[in-house]
Amino acid sequence: MIPCQRHLFDIPEDIAYFNCAYMSPLMHKVVAAGQEGVMGKARPWRITPPDFFSTPERARTLFAKLINAQADDIAMIPACSYGIATAAQNLPVGKGQKLVVLEDQFPSNVYSWRELAAERGGEVVTIAKGGNDGWTPRILEAVNPDTAIVALPHCHWTDGSLIDLEAVGRRCREVGAALVLDLTQSIGALPFDVAAVQPDFAVAAGYKWMMGPYTLGFVYIAPQHQNGRPLEHNWIARKDSENFAGLVDYKSEFQPGARRFDMGEGANFTSLPMAVAALEQLLEWGVADIQATLSAMTAQIAERAAPLGLRASDPALRAGHFLGLGFPGDVPTGLPERLGQENVYVSVRGQSMRVTPHLFNNEADIERLITVLSGAL
Ligand SMILES: Cc1ncc(COP(=O)(O)O)c(C=O)c1O
Repeated sequence: MIPCQRHLFDIPEDIAYFNCAYMSPLMHKVVAAGQEGVMGKARPWRITPPDFFSTPERARTLFAKLINAQADDIAMIPACSYGIATAAQNLPVGKGQKLVVLEDQFPSNVYSWRELAAERGGEVVTIAKGGNDGWTPRILEAVNPDTAIVALPHCHWTDGSLIDLEAVGRRCREVGAALVLDLTQSIGALPFDVAAVQPDFAVAAGYKWMMGPYTLGFVYIAPQHQNGRPLEHNWIARKDSENFAGLVDYKSEFQPGARRFDMGEGANFTSLPMAVAALEQLLEWGVADIQATLSAMTAQIAERAAPLGLRASDPALRAGHFLGLGFPGDVPTGLPERLGQENVYVSVRGQSMRVTPHLFNNEADIERLITVLSGAL
């Protein structure tokens, strides 16, 4: 178990923040890295051409380490939707083929698939919620030789319900379907291994469980797709872009690996150093230990919430860092706002109240959550 890390964050004692699924707070050192980046731009004579490459490479390497990939397999993106659109542009879909998603999946991992299906004469198949055995058996059943693409999260963004991605990856390979993952609600808090799952693309926005800034994420692109077509064509992604004097010696070749898929101005001097500082800390803690610590915390909260009539799903079927609590009837109107007035922060998505803690939460936060919740129900 990792001891409480609140001292690394700027969180007043009377704030009980359980809303990493919405947006994680920044650590002091991440803020400092951003401030340094802003000040660097105030004095641009200190920014040299190698700086356009060194921090991106550091960020790529750290993210790759988090998911057991190589730096060559990683591109920098501004949003999950950008990574999903990159995948959609580079995967084949034949007429009548199926694209599999989950009911109430996050929109950034749905709209591109609807567009693609409409364009190619494919069909989006939505797996319905329900059942006592979780998503995985129904996903495995839905994936067959007619399936072109399976687009999933690791855990559902509304309630943390978990998907066995290794089993889904195996099934996809059996039938020749591509596997595209949106790991925004899990990377950094839930171990994930590209070698075990073998996805075609795995995308994550960085401002939640990666504890980084807004508008910076990463996409893993499997080696067999690295010769594909990027969404946009920026100078830095092309071969020899390190030579600023020779940039108009236009090149048709790209930088190696997945770098061709980097967003324009990926060398962001403010947000990239922030992401690097956050990723270094996550790796130092270790994702398996983060998951174990947060699992114990959410289990304790689930146990304390049960006498209030709030239902948590089977711990075996949800991600440990992500607690979705169900109400006996509808979610009381305005509940998150009422809790917010008492300095307790959670979020409601669909019929689920998301309680998503991190290592900054302590016993006093849990006490405040339960006390305020009992008063509000
Ligand atoms: C599962 C999931 N994916 C992605 C995002 C963010 O998407 P984007 O980066 O496209 O804004 C969110 C935000 O809540 C999310 O919950």
